[in-house]
Amino acid sequence: MAATEKIRVLIVDDVPETRENIRKLLQFEGDVEVVGAARTGREAISIAEETKPDVVLMDINMPDMDGIEATEAIRRKVSFSQIIILSVQADPSYMRKAMLVGARDFLTKPPVIDELNSAIRRAGVMAHEEKIKAMTSASQMAGGSVQIPSNGVDANGNVIVVYSPKGGTGCTTIATNLALSLRSPESKVALIDGNLQFGDIAVFLNVQGKNTILDLATRVDDLDPDIVHEVMVDHGASGVHILAAPSRPEMADKVTADQFNKILQFMRQLYDFIVVDTSSYLSEIVLAAMDIADLLVLVTTQDIPAIKNTKTFLSLIDGMHINRQRLVFVLNQYDKRIAITPEKISESLRQEVVGVIPLDERTVVSAVNRGVPFVMDNKTQPVSRSVLSLAELVRDRVNKFEVPELDKVLKR
Ligand SMILES: Nc1ncnc2c1ncn2[C@@H]1O[C@H](COP(=O)(O)OP(=O)(O)OP(=O)(O)O)[C@@H](O)[C@H]1O
Ligand SMILES: [Mg+2]
Repeated sequence: MAATEKIRVLIVDDVPETRENIRKLLQFEGDVEVVGAARTGREAISIAEETKPDVVLMDINMPDMDGIEATEAIRRKVSFSQIIILSVQADPSYMRKAMLVGARDFLTKPPVIDELNSAIRRAGVMAHEEKIKAMTSASQMAGGSVQIPSNGVDANGNVIVVYSPKGGTGCTTIATNLALSLRSPESKVALIDGNLQFGDIAVFLNVQGKNTILDLATRVDDLDPDIVHEVMVDHGASGVHILAAPSRPEMADKVTADQFNKILQFMRQLYDFIVVDTSSYLSEIVLAAMDIADLLVLVTTQDIPAIKNTKTFLSLIDGMHINRQRLVFVLNQYDKRIAITPEKISESLRQEVVGVIPLDERTVVSAVNRGVPFVMDNKTQPVSRSVLSLAELVRDRVNKFEVPELDKVLKR
């Protein structure tokens, strides 16, 4: 399963029982976290500024400031927060006013659990999309993904992010085997676990070390090669260096997107390829990795939910200004008995499938269970050959990019 980040919700209502009832309705929703409750409009604004919720459930009539005014203020201060208005009756004039100040949705009180849940989820998706947009425009203002070595050191390593908008499609399988395939006497490779809550890279490679990304996160402003090498775990058999995820899910929050970004940037000086495994959930960490990725290996499978999510993701990346040329679209677990062919997927998503990795449970599952990636000891199997050709394609692509990128840097 993919790690899931919760939708953070703020409840605003002047009546204590209403706040409590809503909290109770939400307590069993695993993907929803109530981050605060406010009794007045003013309190709502200050708690929203502090907690930056994805979704605010907003009452209309409150003593000091009504829900409309509070909505307007929160949208101004925390631009990605999505406001759902809860009111006793659906008064059209209120609704119009609320919409004009940026409210996203309306529910009548008391809310029905199903309606409340689906409204929160819809709003949660929008909040994440707005965060992505904000991050993208911020990064564009800061110069986009062209990396300029800041200290005169050669920082040419390529960041390769492996991502799927659907859990369980095979990102970790591909990231680990791809990292090993890219390793050669000429190419140093780092494999970073970007799935900070439930990362399993260390298990896939059967390595154990006491250090994790937490040991670098606290030192991002004074990284040096020795510190990095000390923290990375050496996968002796292949020579790939691994940066493991924190050992417990609750520690994931201790790493910020900014720290993650700085770690990856620093590694460009030390490695030729920095392969990043990710969770399906578009956490700030995953977005930070995508933001600086030289290539994004996008993984899908032949099932409709995976294809549907890929379609949604592709529509998002256009808005994120990720150049489609940087995408390496891969179909994993390919089973030729299934009618959804790579050609059909390419056509319907208007994105060419450039790598096909066959379904081979025997080889893949036994490799994971032994902690020995299949490209190491099953090189001749079709599944291994397909990952080795993916590695070739990755090498080719990054070589092609190097020239225009250099041009851009020199023009600055
Ligand atoms: N080509 C393949 N053939 C057969 N089984 C595969 C293949 N690729 C992956 N699998 C299996 O699918 C399961 C999920 O793979 P993996 O953990 O790599 O996916 P993931 O996308 O990283 O999942 P998560 O979302 O949990 O991080 C594993 O049991 C793995 O062994
Ligand atoms: Mg995984």
